[in-house]
Order: sequence, then structure tokens, then C-alpha cells
Amino acid sequence: MRRNPMRDKKKQGNLLDKGNDPAVKYADPKDQILNDKQQSRRDFLEGSGAAVAAGAGISAFGIPSAKAQSANSSATTAINLTVNGTRQMLEVQDRWTLAEVLRDQLDLTGTKIGCNRSECGACTVLMNGQPVYACSQLAVWADGAEIRTVEGLATNGELSPVQRAFVANNGPQCGFCTPGQLMTATALLQTNPRPSSEEVKEALVGNLCRCSNYNAIVEAVVMAGEEGGLA
Ligand code: FES
Ligand code: FES
Repeated sequence: MRRNPMRDKKKQGNLLDKGNDPAVKYADPKDQILNDKQQSRRDFLEGSGAAVAAGAGISAFGIPSAKAQSANSSATTAINLTVNGTRQMLEVQDRWTLAEVLRDQLDLTGTKIGCNRSECGACTVLMNGQPVYACSQLAVWADGAEIRTVEGLATNGELSPVQRAFVANNGPQCGFCTPGQLMTATALLQTNPRPSSEEVKEALVGNLCRCSNYNAIVEAVVMAGEEGGLA
């Protein structure tokens, strides 16, 4: 019976001496030598097809190669955004998300990135008045848009009604989800100034709170409505 070389201290030592990762399955090089006659026609066709595709910067699966992708990844586009009432002319990489541009280019770090994949809502901002996940919008898609972030809610240093209601109801616990909750709540109050708790729950369904402070958040938005909505 052939012994597992990974249990053979001597061979394992040799592998380590050569700087090889012992987690890599050991294979005897002799076993890998392929007799010319053993190479099948299929192997040959697959190999030559891959070579042609590699020359064109395309993988065997039709996906651009990493080299081709990295050549394109720094392509930039000039865009205009109006962020919290201020016009911004920006040169952005085509692969940057709106959340990245807000945080990294405009220093508006109130917009949080939690999951970065359209699941948690921490990155919610208003785009032309509608709540969107900024982690899932390319900045170039937002060209010409009006963006409102949590930094744009207060006026002359005065918290907005929904922000005040969050404070009054202990809406934030760790606070990571709070900017996204506030932006979705603001969008709701724009169209429904006096929502019921059921309507608030429905509107906030895409904003997760890992502290699970949902009751306080819903009560805060209901209170904001009762106290005049966004007025
Ligand atoms: S960070 Fe955008 S949805 Fe979670
Ligand atoms: S308050 Fe902590 S995630 Fe919502």
C-alpha cells in the first residue's frame, strides 16, 4: 500500500525545506510525466483553444483575463453630482461605487459600508429623492443625480425631525445602521408624512440593524411623523 507522503516526516521535511506549502497535496513528479501518445485529441484541442484565447486576453470561459481586466480597471469618467446641495465635478474610476466616491473622494463617511452587497442598507442614500444602496450603484451611473446623505439632513446645525426622534427614542445603539435608517425614514416621510408603525416597518425592511434595535427605530419614525414629519 502506498503511504500518504504528507504523513511521511522525511518527505514532509523535504517539502518544507524547499519552501513548499505542506498543505499542497504531494505528487510524485514521475507520475505527472505524460507520454506523448497518452495525450488525447481532446487535451490537445483544449490546450490550443486556451492558448488562442489567452493571446486575445480572454479566458477559456469567455471571461476577460485578469491582465485585460486590470488594464481596464483604472479607466476613468468625468461625472457631475449634486451632493447635499453642492455641485461636485469628479473624475471617477468606472469601477468605483457611489459609496466609495462619497466616502473616499468627498469625505462623507456618514454613509456606511456594511455588507457591500445590497443586503444590509447601511449605505442607503437618497438619489433624486429615492433611497438607494450606494454600495451597489456605480458612481458613473449617478452622473447628473442629486444625492443626499446623512450629512445633508441637519439644517444650520439643527437636527432634522427624524434625527431628533431617533435621539429621543434611543434609535441608535452602536449606530452603524443609523445613517441608512435615517435616509430611508426621510424618504418615507417625504411621501407619507404620518406613517403607521406597520408602514414604517414595511419601508425599513431593507435596513438591517445588527443590534436588533428595531422597536426603537420604528417608534422614532412614527414619532417623527406625529410631530410634523419633515416639517
Ligand atoms: S453596504 Fe450597501 S447594502 Fe450593505
Ligand atoms: S444600532 Fe447597531 S446596527 Fe443598528
